[in-house]
Amino acid sequence: MSDHLIDDSHLPETREWFAKCQEVIAGGESSYARLTGTRPIVMSHGDGAHFYDVDGNRYIDWCLGYGPMIFGHRPRFIVDAIAEQITQRGMLYTFPHELDWEVGRKIVQAVPGIDQVRFANSGSEATQAAMRLARGYTGKEKILKWEGSYNGFLDCHAFSHMPDLETAGLEKYPRTLPSGAGIPKAVEDTVVVGCFNDLESVEELMRRHGHELAAVLAEPILADCGIIPPEPGFLEGLRRLCDEYGVLLIFDEIITGFRVALGGAQERYGVIPDITCVAKAVGGGTPGAAAFGAKKHIMDIETENVVLHGGTYSANPMTLAGMNAALDKLLGETDAVYGRLNGTADAMVAGMRAIFAEQGVPAHIGHVGPMWQVFFGQEAPVTRARQARTSDTRFFSHWQAECQARGVYFHNYNFERFFASTAHTQEDVDESLAVMETATRIVKERLGSLPEGV
Ligand SMILES: Cc1ncc(COP(=O)(O)O)c(C=O)c1O
Repeated sequence: MSDHLIDDSHLPETREWFAKCQEVIAGGESSYARLTGTRPIVMSHGDGAHFYDVDGNRYIDWCLGYGPMIFGHRPRFIVDAIAEQITQRGMLYTFPHELDWEVGRKIVQAVPGIDQVRFANSGSEATQAAMRLARGYTGKEKILKWEGSYNGFLDCHAFSHMPDLETAGLEKYPRTLPSGAGIPKAVEDTVVVGCFNDLESVEELMRRHGHELAAVLAEPILADCGIIPPEPGFLEGLRRLCDEYGVLLIFDEIITGFRVALGGAQERYGVIPDITCVAKAVGGGTPGAAAFGAKKHIMDIETENVVLHGGTYSANPMTLAGMNAALDKLLGETDAVYGRLNGTADAMVAGMRAIFAEQGVPAHIGHVGPMWQVFFGQEAPVTRARQARTSDTRFFSHWQAECQARGVYFHNYNFERFFASTAHTQEDVDESLAVMETATRIVKERLGSLPEGV
């Protein structure tokens, strides 16, 4: 049990419901990522930028279901579109339908690297399908991915997300380490792990493995150990190396897509991948919103069924109705939507920086567009290994618990991040910053004026 578990005796319903869930759900939760809380939340309902627990407490939500709810909880226009679809037309077709074309053409219009798409049912499925597509297209088997990147929970890509520093190997040449038990060794041999933001080591890996690498599965912004933006020239260099060695470049834009710009990180940085995966923001919180796509000559092997891709629920009209409504808003009101998301994030980041500076707490905020994360420590980390080595997770964890206890929610691990939605208001920003100021003072007094290790 954590040393800062906040008294939850005033959360009787939460305690009772969580205990009930634990009886029938292993751990009480259906995802490893949710099993990390210092204090459980059992949710009652969401509304805009807020959610409520079963004890009636309100939280300002900066996690937004790990990112998808870019318009906040229950946006009317998405709820109405899904309700109309399922009450008037149906939940499942398994035939082509108008929404296939509507949603497909909007993704193609928005994302520079996509000529054609296939729909999947989750981000993990989309990245898995993209890896298979790259293997089928190139005839090569290995995939290079970043240490610190989470590309999904499936066997093919669940490696080296947050390995222990003691076993992770060298910063520039990390070892390939499965993210849990049960992943076959044979699969491990198909994955090469590289260092995000270190072009020199990526070039060396290309020299060693280029002949057997089908693709680099790259998060263009490392958003799974806080927010680590690409160093200037890194993505351009990666594109050049992939071309030189005949390796496809896959952008995992499941976090960045339709968020850091309408066309994702590829639009923001002007580097176009061969294959792109999108999910989360593209559906505005619609469950199952996910797709992968590529240039036509690559997608031709999907058309010809050279590689296997399927899914009973893929392209189901319920999900596509939600995605269609989200995309109409994103495409129709692009400047207003991204202006608002970025404005809210900028205000939060500026306010947080001021709090840490005033209170003398060394902190660095990784920030791109509507997403950001704070690392307590002196260094602005540019690689996952440096983030793990230099950022004070104990300080973060205490600080998060104090904020959560006062109704400001963000994830309790600093490898997640804060997301802004269009539903957040200036009042939410002001209230969150006031709570953070109090939480920072409390934790500083409890743990000392400087975060551990700095
Ligand atoms: C970058 C990235 N890729 C893939 C995934 C997997 O998506 P899903 O949880 O929908 O399977 C995630 C999930 O958080 C992610 O952050």
